[in-house]
Amino acid sequence: MSCIRIVGTGSGVPESVVTNDDLSKIVETDDQWISSRTGIKERRISQGENTSELGAKAAMNALEDAGLTAMDIDIIIVATTTPDSFTPSTACIVQDIIGAKKAYAFDVSAACSGFIYGVNIATKMLKAGDEKRALIIGAETLSKVLDWNDRSTCVLFGDGAGAVVLEKGEEEGILASTIGSDGTLGRASLSCGIFNVHNPFVKDDIEDKINMAMNGREIFRFAVNIVPQAVEEVLQLAGKKLEDVKYIIPHQANLRIVEGAAKKLDLPLERFYMNLHKYGNTSAASIPLALDEMNKNGLLQKGDNLVLVGFGGGLTWGSLLIKW
Ligand code: UT7
Repeated sequence: MSCIRIVGTGSGVPESVVTNDDLSKIVETDDQWISSRTGIKERRISQGENTSELGAKAAMNALEDAGLTAMDIDIIIVATTTPDSFTPSTACIVQDIIGAKKAYAFDVSAACSGFIYGVNIATKMLKAGDEKRALIIGAETLSKVLDWNDRSTCVLFGDGAGAVVLEKGEEEGILASTIGSDGTLGRASLSCGIFNVHNPFVKDDIEDKINMAMNGREIFRFAVNIVPQAVEEVLQLAGKKLEDVKYIIPHQANLRIVEGAAKKLDLPLERFYMNLHKYGNTSAASIPLALDEMNKNGLLQKGDNLVLVGFGGGLTWGSLLIKW
């Protein structure tokens, strides 16, 4: 039975750093409110680079880390809520930019859980098929869909991309994975890019809503419950215990959500890796960005067990148990 493991990680973030103080010049807010309610101090905001360009940067960075070239890749999956266009998919644009001529490419839409969905899908595809390697990219330019007059959302998010290379072989890596969704709660809690039908045959024309709209408290409640649940579920699937896990890498949305989840799991906060203060919530990019930072900073030792856990719009969630 073949195994799937991560053989490279990478990041691609815009250069421009926007601090909480910078935002207080745009909307009525301050560093004290943003830091204490979320844990965010600054974020990267694109000055024109689109999702595909950030995704391609992260992909090249991950390929370099793996010692591979774009021609070694068979599958490209981009998880994003902010694609460059409806078509071509952002994954096809990334394929073109990096020159992965042998691959086939498609996008996955599962909001902040998208990276976990991508790894879950690719793992199954690699196990079932002849393909050997997949590039999974979480990439977002949320700044293009934020309402920059709405202080309750525009201070929370940032732009960026993270990527991993998955490879099929004999060595263990992805030990277990879960994904889930509940569409009943989705539209009222978090929506973005609502395009209604406008054509000569429509009588009651409804205005489009491109900007992100969110019921923050609803998502908060959902997240604090689903994170511990998804962590426990993935451990159970692999017959492991929390004591076997070195780090939990959660979706980076709000420090208080992670504090709530840590309390429910009865784990010290130090077991959760956070880089939210530097990037804000980068949706599908947040987990691979954190994983890459840990990898490049030498925090991961061979054999460490890690749990990656995501949640977000849809509503969606997912978790991965990885042996590094
Ligand atoms: O990736 C998944 C996507 N989303 C999330 O993860 C979001 C999850 N939710 C959250 O992180 C939190 O609910 C928020 C950070 C969004 C909000 O925190 P909260 O403690 O639930 O605050 P709130 O929405 O209850 O707002 C409290 C007050 C309000 O004023 P009043 O009505 O009490 O006078 C807001 O108007 O804070 C006000 N407020 C702000 N004040 C200064 C809202 N945004 C700001 C702001 N600066 N940026």
